[in-house]
Amino acid sequence: MHVSRRELLKLGLLTGAAAGLPLARLAQAVADGNPPDSPFFRPFQLPLPIPANHVKVLPPGGVDDGADHYHVVMREAFARILPDPRLKTRVAAYNGFYPGQTFQVRRGRPVVVTQHNHLPFNTSIHLHGAVVDGNSDGHPLDQIMPGMMKVYTYPNLDNNTQSARTEWYHDHDIDTTGTNVYHGLAGFYLIHDASEIRLRLPTGRFDIPLVLQDRRFNADGSLFFPVFDTFDSNNGVFGDTIVVNGAQQPFLRVEPRRYRFRVLDGSNARQYRLQLSNDDPLTVIATEGGFLERPVPVTSLFIAQAERYEFIIDFTHLAGKSIVLRNTNLRSDDDPTRIGKLMRFDVTLPLSSPDNSRIPSFLRRITPIPESEAKLTRHFEFARDDGQWAINKQFFDETLARVDAKPRSGDVEIWELQNGGGGWRHPIHIHLINFQILDRNGGPPLPWEHGWKETVLLHEGETVRVIIRWYDVPAGPPRNPPDGRNFKNKYVFHCHNLEHEDHAMMGEMEVQPRR
Ligand code: C2O
Ligand code: CU
Ligand code: CU
Repeated sequence: MHVSRRELLKLGLLTGAAAGLPLARLAQAVADGNPPDSPFFRPFQLPLPIPANHVKVLPPGGVDDGADHYHVVMREAFARILPDPRLKTRVAAYNGFYPGQTFQVRRGRPVVVTQHNHLPFNTSIHLHGAVVDGNSDGHPLDQIMPGMMKVYTYPNLDNNTQSARTEWYHDHDIDTTGTNVYHGLAGFYLIHDASEIRLRLPTGRFDIPLVLQDRRFNADGSLFFPVFDTFDSNNGVFGDTIVVNGAQQPFLRVEPRRYRFRVLDGSNARQYRLQLSNDDPLTVIATEGGFLERPVPVTSLFIAQAERYEFIIDFTHLAGKSIVLRNTNLRSDDDPTRIGKLMRFDVTLPLSSPDNSRIPSFLRRITPIPESEAKLTRHFEFARDDGQWAINKQFFDETLARVDAKPRSGDVEIWELQNGGGGWRHPIHIHLINFQILDRNGGPPLPWEHGWKETVLLHEGETVRVIIRWYDVPAGPPRNPPDGRNFKNKYVFHCHNLEHEDHAMMGEMEVQPRR
């Protein structure tokens, strides 16, 4: 068996930390070469958990300093993911919550999060979608060691780059993002603003985030995560069990009214095609970068890792009925009962108040970035190389000596993102900015891709051109604690198949100040 340095790092064997490995990180290699089948449970036994809202703490000194403050302790916890109450699953969790608590944030109001690492391994917290100073971006090498803490500052800028939208935070530690996220380190961060209120979309308890994940369980309910090169562990880790908001194939009782759902594919490797069992439309209203110009009703919606789509489902005419949110993107070895059904909506609650929400025909203006303004085109090819995953045939340089792009704030650039083929899909994410998709293989982007995005899926062999007007690096507090490493203007871009990312399909950027 070939064991790479990265695999050893994952196991902690190079850091001498092996003895202290927690159960939750005991990644397993199975002698017979087959991963276990998870214990089987009928779908729709558990109610959909709604992740708890995060609770503010007092600002330092107890005086309002214009920001909202939060404390998070990353630690191990037991989660009830499976319907059998005897089976508890050990997870690595933010404040003990899997998924993490939801941040409810107002545009223009900064948020300061103190993260304490009480886990026995390194972490780094990326707020995916945020426009932040590099020192708060959760660079994979800007780690929090066990027992240490770090303060992250999120300005939530009062401009269009941080308008109302669905962001999420997750672990981003170098080489071990896949296992860290798999074991529980991910949660929602929702930005609200006045324009959103004017739209009169379903709100409050009729506005529900859904994180879709797949997991594999041992017979005792513990998570199974493969190591070494077994089971394609660097091709992407798939589970045989669907978990939504931390519960196996849950159900949700709803009222006969409209609901807004914010769907995140939080899986390591799995992609989904969402479809309602009665073929009712999902009316897409937003992507990663917030609202589209106009709603786009679709009967099915493909979603890849780290993408977010918001849509409205109208249950008004469905009182008394149940409909299933299905996944029709099955792999050859997927069990349709376990993987083809994500969750069920039971329209069994009485209408608690008249439904005054609406689906506006116009959401907001999206101004195209003119291609003529582009200063240059960068070309990146994403492909398998030497058993690992490369960008332009190069692996992420952990010394940071090689920088793959030095874009300048204010400049317009075209990035031509090419899937080098070989049967793989790559969802590509660029930190700091939002982009617009110019074309897919020379043709127009998909109808629901016409907004602002920061993650784009490259199907096999596809080339997607995106256009970026580079943001300024927001002001950040001085490096804290000052340990000599400054990530001020350093960001990464990478494939969001977490195993591809960990096996080095990631590039380094250094954003240059505006001319
Ligand atoms: Cu969600 Cu760099 O990642
Ligand atoms: Cu990101
Ligand atoms: Cu990939």
